[in-house]
Amino acid sequence: MDAETILDRCDELAAISSDPERLVRVHLSKEHRAANDLVAQWMTEAGLSTWQDAAGNQCGRLEGREPGLPALLLGSHIDTVPDAGRYDGMLGVLLAIAVVGRLPKDLPFAVEVVAFSDEEGTRFGTALLGSRALAGTWDDAWWSLQDERGISLFEAFQDFGLDPARLPSAFRRPEQLVGYLEAHIEQGPFLEDADKRLAVVTSIAGARRFELTMTGKAGHAGGSPYDRRKDALVGASELVVEIERLSIEQHVIGTVGKLEAFPGGVNVIPGRVEFSLDLRAEFDEDRDEALRLMFEAAQSIAERRGLSFHEKEIYRADAVVCDLDLRGAIEAGIRSTGDDEPMAFWSRAGHDGMAVVAVAPIAMLFLRCKGGVSHHPDESVRQGDVAAALKAYESAVLVVAKSVE
Ligand code: GLV
Ligand code: MN
Ligand code: MN
Repeated sequence: MDAETILDRCDELAAISSDPERLVRVHLSKEHRAANDLVAQWMTEAGLSTWQDAAGNQCGRLEGREPGLPALLLGSHIDTVPDAGRYDGMLGVLLAIAVVGRLPKDLPFAVEVVAFSDEEGTRFGTALLGSRALAGTWDDAWWSLQDERGISLFEAFQDFGLDPARLPSAFRRPEQLVGYLEAHIEQGPFLEDADKRLAVVTSIAGARRFELTMTGKAGHAGGSPYDRRKDALVGASELVVEIERLSIEQHVIGTVGKLEAFPGGVNVIPGRVEFSLDLRAEFDEDRDEALRLMFEAAQSIAERRGLSFHEKEIYRADAVVCDLDLRGAIEAGIRSTGDDEPMAFWSRAGHDGMAVVAVAPIAMLFLRCKGGVSHHPDESVRQGDVAAALKAYESAVLVVAKSVE
């Protein structure tokens, strides 16, 4: 499988969407089922034996020089954000399948490809559900998470044909694994700015996500004097601006990506606002200190405006450092493409490796994407960069094989 086929297959996957106008494919949906089936077919063509695990992850395995050896995992995710691009996750899965199709059949380990079922957390708010299942770091409290239609994760498993009681069969143990390698678009501008195609990831930013609520009192847009209003939207807006200011000041990355005002009438003062916070940093301590300042600001804005502020944490993943040996293998892979000085930097975006690290050492290969744009339909990659990534990825696996001999 070459770069052109990989890109064609990204187009094919992008056509599997619950919305004909834009790409949306969420965890345990019928589109997830169709994507798993298509990926399984490509895995089979590449010589892998395939199965869907008890968490809905699509897996494939190529045995090593003898059956039953521990596996080097390669993979990424096939769920998307709303109105997604076609490469975030999917390109990493297709690169992994292409790499396996090129490998010799006598490696000192098995190689498995995993298309993770949920990295983004679009449907249930909590991200990494597929990779946390594989890593055995599942929290039973997640079964009662609900999607926007009130369907629980437990029910969604059943609707998808999965038995929640069997979930532990998806768990992997460290002795079954050699490591985890993932290729992914950068989702930022550093490679493009440096005129480079590939980079090795040093660590992945830790993230925390919250549902925030600002509550005031709804009232008549004409009849309520300003000094008597408890406008939840003006209070929330002030906080959104303060979150941006504090993020810049504290060198963290804070984003309010969702916001809804209630009851939502043009002539009604908003009585309640529900909004989100996604906060990331290279170091967890910096993230948590910025968070403390943000919530302090929220309380003082609420007090000054006669509102009440409430926060609920819905997701947390701490920063992870990539394994030095696997990083070395990726660097050697990048060198094999003719780049003598591989770029190295930390990932601002979250990835399945943040979960897999609980059971295996991890490392990542980044490739350039146009303008650093991601989580947007304009996501774009160059065929030549995909070809370079394929070569680097394959070489990295062979370097790991040598180190295990
Ligand atoms: C995943 O794409 C994330 O970093 O939010
Ligand atoms: Mn993403
Ligand atoms: Mn991704």
